Amino acid sequence: MNYNTSKHNNFQYIDKIFRKKSNEVDRVKYFRFDRNERIAPFPNKFLNKLKKNLKSEHLTSYPNFKTLYNLISKDLKLNKNNLLLTAGSDIAIKKCFELLIKKNDHIITIYPTYGMVDVYAKIFRANQKKIYYKEQLNLDISKILKNINKKTKLIILANPNSPTGTIIEQKNLLNIIKKASSMNAFVLIDECYYGFYKETFAKKIHKFKNLIISRSLSKAYGLAGCRIGYLISNKNLIKRFIKLKSMHEISYFSAYTAESFFKNRKVVNDYIFEVKKGLIYFKNFLNKHQLYYFNTYANFILVDFKNQKIFKKMLKEAKKMKILIHGEPNLPGCRNFIKFTLGPINYMKIIEKLILKCI
Ligand SMILES: Cc1ncc(COP(=O)(O)O)c(C=O)c1O
Repeated sequence: MNYNTSKHNNFQYIDKIFRKKSNEVDRVKYFRFDRNERIAPFPNKFLNKLKKNLKSEHLTSYPNFKTLYNLISKDLKLNKNNLLLTAGSDIAIKKCFELLIKKNDHIITIYPTYGMVDVYAKIFRANQKKIYYKEQLNLDISKILKNINKKTKLIILANPNSPTGTIIEQKNLLNIIKKASSMNAFVLIDECYYGFYKETFAKKIHKFKNLIISRSLSKAYGLAGCRIGYLISNKNLIKRFIKLKSMHEISYFSAYTAESFFKNRKVVNDYIFEVKKGLIYFKNFLNKHQLYYFNTYANFILVDFKNQKIFKKMLKEAKKMKILIHGEPNLPGCRNFIKFTLGPINYMKIIEKLILKCI
């Protein structure tokens, strides 16, 4: 069939969107220090219990999310009407575009941030104002505020952000939400790394009707493979989000898995604690070897390898050691930086070994 691209004129637009090739690396065979996942396995005792309680129906039946909504609602001390499950916070972010953004609508985003924000901005043909990080990961809040005007529909801020690991201070976030509210614009706070960073704006959804929060179970909960996230907002907006959802928010298997985590917070809390210990250990090592790093509020850290020679050697040696890592070319002044996912001390020792081979 020969497509008539003037009839299917969306193709001309879609063809211009650049997407990285999807991941063909069998990640399971590597030490995964590149995407801020849980890098240590779950404790066997917990995994065995999960397996033991798994029923055939979790695979054969269409899902029911009543228990999971109840558990999340209890966890957040928010009503179920304030929540919508999504397949990862990725889809939570996409839902905001679906609900709020039409062609040429004005949005404000920070750059760089979660890569799909820029992809969705293109897919939904938003008029996107990017506020760029400057050297030393400085973000000009006054520039965000100045750019909020009557035309602004949506502002997206990851807190903490990736790949920077930085946060926006609470008082600055409040000022942004207030200015946005005065301009009838929505603010999405992407709290993907919540757990590693404990501040949240979830409770403020009652006060600010223009506030939307997205959360993920991929990071602190360690469930990146299950694709679970959720939206938090006022019940009127959630009602509208519900109209846009697919038939089933997530899979039954994912819901079953998530339930066990809300029933057993120890697994999550223990890991957060181990990662914090790993960070202290790794920082000591970096200080000892006079390697500069940025302060981080998430489960990853950006380290400066001073020059391209060491930077390239790091990538080469990592490949040999079956370690997945990469640089962050979109961050100004960070040409020689590598971002490492943080894990328990024994995992940070793997990175330590890699670094010692290269410096
Ligand atoms: C800042 C940020 N937001 C959102 C996401 C999406 O995560 P997920 O779809 O796994 O919840 C990521 C993933 O790395 C991220 O770094």
